[in-house]
Amino acid sequence: MAQKIALFNHKGGVSKTTTTFNLGWMLASKGKRVILVDADPQCNLTGMVLREETENDMNRIAKIYQTQSNLKTGLAPAFESQPKLIEPVDCIPVEGQDNLFLLPGHVGLAEYEVTLGIAQELSGSVQALRNIPGALNYLFEQTAQKFEADYILIDMSPSLGSINQNLLMISDFFIVPTTADFFSVMAIDSLAKVIPKWVAWANKASSLSILKEAIYAFPDVNLKFLGIIVQNFRIIRGKETQAFEKWITRIEEDVALKIAPAFKNQGIMLPDIAYQEAEVDKSFCLTKIANFNSLIALSQKHRTPVYDLTPEQLKQRGKVLTQNQKKQEEFRQVFSDLADKVIQLTSEAYAVSV
Ligand SMILES: Nc1ncnc2c1ncn2[C@@H]1O[C@H](COP(=O)(O)OP(=O)(O)O)[C@@H](O)[C@H]1O
Ligand SMILES: [Mg+2]
Repeated sequence: MAQKIALFNHKGGVSKTTTTFNLGWMLASKGKRVILVDADPQCNLTGMVLREETENDMNRIAKIYQTQSNLKTGLAPAFESQPKLIEPVDCIPVEGQDNLFLLPGHVGLAEYEVTLGIAQELSGSVQALRNIPGALNYLFEQTAQKFEADYILIDMSPSLGSINQNLLMISDFFIVPTTADFFSVMAIDSLAKVIPKWVAWANKASSLSILKEAIYAFPDVNLKFLGIIVQNFRIIRGKETQAFEKWITRIEEDVALKIAPAFKNQGIMLPDIAYQEAEVDKSFCLTKIANFNSLIALSQKHRTPVYDLTPEQLKQRGKVLTQNQKKQEEFRQVFSDLADKVIQLTSEAYAVSV
């Protein structure tokens, strides 16, 4: 069965979308079948994978949306009480990487936020809303089965709304991408408070018979924290922040002292041995990712991770090319190690509660 991994931080601009794409691509290149889900109504991931630059692109994308399903139309049977069952989404193969697929997002997904919020508050008592809290999970399971996926990577919006609450609670694992700055420290602190509340809610919801017996049953909580990823690409007043080390230390301390104990209390940590074997220390930092610098623009242009851009795509020669290829190899190693850690931490051996 596919493992659902959420990339979550309610702070924006911390490289959730970029990491979903780069990590998903790397997992796929290691032979895993991966579906990337764009669950952010801003649709940045969908825009990147489908290429939205010219008017022609827009027409092509409009056609895709008319003929193929996406996250919103996939959920419509539950959210709009249509007299039919939710069906698997027609995921789109990601160009350049076999085994990698996109479950496209939809700007209108935000319209379901309020309905889902009400359903999650009242679902235990209102029959008419019983099929809503389990709808996303059902849609993912159906789609994963159709595409024989090993992993579903969920790119989330920067919010603490009901869609994110649902997405996180139906996931098997989650990663918190973060940047080394003051606001990320604040974000980490609030996650340490919010996520345990969501888990408590989900445990209660999954035990209610009305939700268990729904067509789209709300699943038992199976969530486990994989760790954080620290990115260093924040530019402050034109200069890369000098305080990087200081904020990394603050973040790592907060994860060790606030997040990990709060998560452990709610049963969403893996057994200690799992992290040890994957060489993840008590700061739970899976990796630190440096600034991609000039490679990021090319990566977006060619819809290819920085580490897989070809010399033709780089369009460089001589020393510049050699320097960039060296950088690419470093990033390849970083993402390869990250993917190996994810594979190890999510392996069946640990997929049992502590
Ligand atoms: N390691 C990196 N180096 C340089 N730029 C990056 C890096 N990671 C992400 N970015 C850029 O930072 C911006 C925010 O990243 P994004 O992945 O969209 O974040 P989020 O999804 O968390 O909002 C994007 O313009 C992206 O291209
Ligand atoms: Mg994003």
